[in-house]
Amino acid sequence: MSKRLDRLAELVPNCRLLADVGCDHGYVGIRCLQSGKAEQVVFIDVSEPSLRKARLNCPDELYPRASFLRQDGLGEVAADCAVIAGMGGLEIISILQRATPPKQLVLQPNRNATEVRTFLSQRYAFVYDGMLRDGKYYNMILAELCESPAELTKLQLAFGVTNLSAPNRDFRKYLAEERAKLTKILDNCDDARVRAKLALVQSAIAVVGGTI
Ligand SMILES: C[S@@+](CC[C@H](N)C(=O)[O-])C[C@H]1O[C@@H](n2cnc3c(N)ncnc32)[C@H](O)[C@@H]1O
Repeated sequence: MSKRLDRLAELVPNCRLLADVGCDHGYVGIRCLQSGKAEQVVFIDVSEPSLRKARLNCPDELYPRASFLRQDGLGEVAADCAVIAGMGGLEIISILQRATPPKQLVLQPNRNATEVRTFLSQRYAFVYDGMLRDGKYYNMILAELCESPAELTKLQLAFGVTNLSAPNRDFRKYLAEERAKLTKILDNCDDARVRAKLALVQSAIAVVGGTI
């Protein structure tokens, strides 16, 4: 498994029923069955060829604890935890809008992480929201349903609570690369949106401190 998939499986808390939504190969759900983190896993994918991969990859001895559903999103499944990873943030939001909210969520949006955080922050508390570099940079989120979640700052919505409170090496690298990339763009053309993005990155750098 890739570092990204390893980390996703690590973030999954112990649960009775885990939904691996958009499972494709199914590696995260399979790992959670193997480790015993999940008593049962429902593998969900909107695409039959993708779901077939999960079925084929799932070892025979795990079949009694696994089920496979071809459907769009979480639907009526009452999972206590859902992992939704490797798809766009807007698709993740759409899936969650149409579902009974699971107690815990492990999310890895490929894009629009700020929108995902904004949506989540209405009902969920962020247990972990950090960055992982595995070829590319990935935002990895573990969130827990909460009655009165804390309001996030603009910087937390943009970068993630854990990244700002306990920045790891990958996040520091990400900030340095973003700063260099945005500065280079501004050297060639002045653009208000790029300037605003660079200002946000500079603010994050000021918060995390140390050598970037
Ligand atoms: C790039 S794969 C990611 C697989 C795995 N979750 C990972 O992180 O490596 C995205 C998968 O999500 C599935 N998918 C996309 N939108 C979906 C939806 N609304 N409901 C269920 N599956 C969906 C696709 O068919 C595809 O198999």
